[in-house]
Parts: sequence; C-alpha cells; structure tokens
Amino acid sequence: MELNLFDKQVYTDRRQVLKENFGNNGLILLLGNDDSSMNYKDNCYPFRQDSSFLYYFGLDVPLLAAIIDTDSGEVVIFGNELTIDDIVWTGTLPTINEMASMVGVVSTRPYADITHYVHKALTEDRIVHILPPYRPENKIKLASWFNTSLEDVADAISIKLIKAVIAQRVIKTPLEIAELDKAVDISIDMMTAVIKHSRPGIKEYELVAKAYEVAAANNARLGYPAIITTQGQTLHTHYYGNTLTQGRMVLSDIGAENHMHYGGDLTRTFPVGNKFTTQQAELYEVVLNAMDHAISMLKPGTRYLDIHLAACLKLAEGLKQAGLMKGDPAEAVEAGAHAMFFQCGLGHMLGMDTHDMEDLGEPYVGYTSELKKETSQFGLKSLRLGRELEAGFVLTVEPGIYIIPELIDRWQAEKKFTDFINYDKLNSYRDFGGIRIEDNFLVTETGYQLLGKYLPKQLKEIEALKG
Ligand code: GLY
Ligand code: MN
Repeated sequence: MELNLFDKQVYTDRRQVLKENFGNNGLILLLGNDDSSMNYKDNCYPFRQDSSFLYYFGLDVPLLAAIIDTDSGEVVIFGNELTIDDIVWTGTLPTINEMASMVGVVSTRPYADITHYVHKALTEDRIVHILPPYRPENKIKLASWFNTSLEDVADAISIKLIKAVIAQRVIKTPLEIAELDKAVDISIDMMTAVIKHSRPGIKEYELVAKAYEVAAANNARLGYPAIITTQGQTLHTHYYGNTLTQGRMVLSDIGAENHMHYGGDLTRTFPVGNKFTTQQAELYEVVLNAMDHAISMLKPGTRYLDIHLAACLKLAEGLKQAGLMKGDPAEAVEAGAHAMFFQCGLGHMLGMDTHDMEDLGEPYVGYTSELKKETSQFGLKSLRLGRELEAGFVLTVEPGIYIIPELIDRWQAEKKFTDFINYDKLNSYRDFGGIRIEDNFLVTETGYQLLGKYLPKQLKEIEALKG
C-alpha cells in the first residue's frame, strides 16, 4: 500500500509555523482518528483521518496521535506496529518509525505512552493543548488521559490552539490550491455525468450512482453525502427514492474528495426534461443574478456577511419582479422576509473539510473577535461565514430559492411579513421545489479565481448539456 503524502518538508514547515505562532506554551496534542465500527466491530465505516492531523502529519492511517512540545521542540508520533493478524487480514504497512520519517518526524512511541506524556505534563503544571474532539472514541480517550469526565473534556479544549490552527489552515498554499483545483475538476466531471444521465422515468438513486462512479474512477470519494433530489426545497435531503418526472427540476449538490483529501462542493439545478419551464427559468435567472453579483464582490477586505446581504437583496428584487415578494426589497432583507425563500447562508469555507474546519468552531472559522455572530434571525443565523475576506481563503458561493410549503403555511398562519410576501401568488408555487447554484472560489490579492474548469451554469448552457 502506498501512502499519499506531500514532500516531508511540507509537514515540517507547517509544524514549524505552528510552533512559531505558538511560542513556548506547553504541549500540543493532535489526535488522529481510529476506525469506527458500523454494525459490528470488524465492519467499519470508510476510514477518514482527522483533517488537522493530516495537515500537520499527513499520515492517513488509523490510531495515530502526535505531540509537539513547544518548549523543548520535541515532536513525537504515537502508534502501534501491526500485529500478524492485522497483516493477514488487512495487509502490511511501513513501520511507525518509517512512516514518521516520511513526514519529517524522528521520535515515535507506542500509542499507550500518550498517557504518560499527558500525565507528566499536567503534573508539571504545563498546559496540554487539544482541539475539540468530534468523535466519541477520541472524547473517551481524552477523558481518560486528562483524568476527567466526558463532559469536562470541554474544559481542556485550547482556544489558543484552535485559533493558531485556523489562522494557518484558512490561508491555502499553492500546493493546496492545486489539490482543490483537481478536486473541483473531478466534482465537475461527476456533475456533468449526473446532468447528462438525468431523464424522465429514472430514480434519483440512479443519478447518485453516476456521481459515485465518476468519483471512484478518479481515485476520489464523495466529501459529503450526495444531495441529488427532485425535492430541492429540502436543503440537505439524502433521500433518493423519487422518480424523475417531466416538468420537475433536479437539484444536485455533490463534491469529490480527492486522494489527498481536498474537496469540491458544487451545485447545479437542471430540468428533468430538456428545458426549464417559464416559471423555473424566471427564478433560475434570479438565483444566477444573485450569484454573479456575489461573485463580483469577492475580494480581500470585504466582509462575507455583506456579500451575503447583497445577494439576499438581489434575490428579493428578483422575487419582487416575479410577483412573489412586494414592498421595498432592502427593507424586506433587513426584516428577514427574504428568508421565506433563502433560509440559509450564502456559503462557507472549503478545504479538506466541505465546511472547512467546522469541527474547530464557527465563531473562530467564519467570524472573528471584531465580527461576532450575534443574530438569531432566521436565515442569518445559518450564515457560516461572515468575516472579512483575505487572499488565500477558499469558499463557496451558493445562493438559492427554496419554496417550502410547511414554511409558507407556518408564516401565513402567523401573518408574518405580509407587507413583503405575496402569499396568494406564493401558494401557486407550492410544488415548485428549489434552485441552488454553487461554485468554489479562491480569494486572490485583487479579487477571486474560480476553482476548477468551468461548469456550465447559464440556463441555455444547462439545457444544451441535456442535449
Ligand atoms: N454541500 C453541502 C453544504 O454545503 O452544506
Ligand atoms: Mn456548500
């Protein structure tokens, strides 16, 4: 088995930057992930290494952890050598020492020795910095190493480490941008295959199969469960049992995670048949116009919150033209009335994780101490990214219009936003579904760059793809 790694210097340099940002401040403990059983012990979910562990240590192998001693400079990888049973059933691997040297680390210890390192440091009143655990097994291990309860593991989480890791990972290097480009290109091939395969009479899961086929053929997998649905109004549905019928649209939100674990995250909405209906085309153009406007605003120094709000305004203006909203669009957005149609945020950071670094906490990834998220407004509360953009950020832009009958009924009964929402007309759209269009961008010094090759998004281009 060949390990997929960047040059060892990449990892050494990344750890060096982390150490420099950190100063002398105790131990940094980074946990890799373990295999996770699905329905019985030896039948596991596909292994996914922790992204921060991958970033600093590269090794895509279960049950590893590492310590960086920021005072002494010592770096240790902890792991166990394979047993003969492991080798018989799952094959061989380089030794822990060999793997460590592939990522520029000299010292290795058995996994169980972590306990000793953590206890010793704590006894000496040194800080052991950890990131928030999101896997139950890692939480259990941390509780035991820190000699605390599962609930109190939260007290050991280091905001200093969270901030240092985010500050580094949020700025993508040329090496990472190249991987993201490749992942988006695979995602585009997946999407193209899905669009071309769509036709009346087949099931949504037959389109899902196309996405998997193209990902697998490119040594990639899906970075998140596919959203391929004729019920596009449900933002994150994973039900694939509906039949594609003439006159409906399909919303396809899919992304490849390539073999280096960088991902794409794309959405296209297209007709089941060869053409959008007049009603679909009208709202498609509204979403596309909001998207293009948002994209034109991408540049360092602009807050993504303001880009989100500008996109909301474009949506509200378009919805007014279509007769679904009324009144002053700016006032409607201020009040939050547009969230009848756009209930989520405009986009999020993208990297090794589809919602990059979401495990480290939205207040630190998507917001800052200058711009905290202090809203409970429906719609705005789901905006994952609000902060000022910087060159090197990679993010998604994904506006949409979602017609959710249950939301119409709820708000209409409450007489909510009757000055801004034309409920009579909206009720005739109850069975419309949803439209989302999503692409991935790098923020550059002067503006932005689309990641990957071009994936058709103009209405006519989409129809032409369908043939
Ligand atoms: N593609 C799924 C999401 O952005 O949440
Ligand atoms: Mn997305």
